[in-house]
Amino acid sequence: MTRRILITGASRGIGRACALWLAQSEAAHLLLLGRDAQALASVAEAVRQAGGTAEFRVVDVTDRSAMAALSGSVGALDGLVAAAGISGMTPVDRDSDAFFDEIVAADLTGPWNTVRACLPAMGPGGRMVLVSSVLGRFGVPGYGAYCAAKHGLIGLAKALALELIDRGIVVNAVAPGWVDTDMAQTGIRQIAAATGQTEAQFRAQAEAAVPVKRFFQPEEIAQGIGWLLSPANTMQVGQCLNLDGGVVQS
Ligand SMILES: NC(=O)c1ccc[n+]([C@@H]2O[C@H](COP(=O)([O-])OP(=O)(O)OC[C@H]3O[C@@H](n4cnc5c(N)ncnc54)[C@H](OP(=O)(O)O)[C@@H]3O)[C@@H](O)[C@H]2O)c1
Repeated sequence: MTRRILITGASRGIGRACALWLAQSEAAHLLLLGRDAQALASVAEAVRQAGGTAEFRVVDVTDRSAMAALSGSVGALDGLVAAAGISGMTPVDRDSDAFFDEIVAADLTGPWNTVRACLPAMGPGGRMVLVSSVLGRFGVPGYGAYCAAKHGLIGLAKALALELIDRGIVVNAVAPGWVDTDMAQTGIRQIAAATGQTEAQFRAQAEAAVPVKRFFQPEEIAQGIGWLLSPANTMQVGQCLNLDGGVVQS
């Protein structure tokens, strides 16, 4: 039977790669969420070419009433990937208050809103994956908001996993390391500027710090998420799967 899976952050990067992976691997029906209608329409077309079917909704995950309104219109759901997110520096001794709130709203409250919107549509066999980060595993100076939100998201996945397992719904998180997307490009630019390096110098340093000595492609992350989403996964419950080439080993 065709599975129906909702993906936030589907317009680009990891969310887009998840949509294409699920289209290729199981001809899934994807509900693509994001804020850019043109980008979502182009992902929907790519999904069709990859063997799946798709529809999209333009919505901001931080808009609680818009997300709640989605609930009645998504139909039955078999899976959810909460990939929407933003990143950036929020140094504690600068005026970072507004950006702190923005990051927490997108990266922690957004997934909460998404889970709340999807839950009424999901029955036994449902699978949820919340996309955290290695910065949900350890701290990085200047990234207080992002680290707080991504640590919080792993806590949310653990609690929801226990809350929902008796309904047959399996919840997990993933913690990717550096993935070649727009977000990583921006991060490289900002950290290089903050540390007085060229972007190439910082990227080389960041790659050298990964045991497998490279960044990852969004498609590789999509495969890890695909496992947690699959009906075959009944063992990993309330876990955070590291997808980082060996950076975090617990
Ligand atoms: N790239 C990395 O190195 C890396 C590493 C670890 C974890 N992650 C996490 O992986 C997830 C995906 O990141 P990415 O690298 O694929 O980033 P990306 O290429 O910048 O894509 C971010 C996606 O999130 C969507 N989004 C952001 N804020 C939103 C909002 N308020 N409402 C709805 N959609 C929103 C964007 O949609 P629009 O088109 O509407 O902007 C876009 O689809 C994020 O949660 C990120 O924190 C990334």
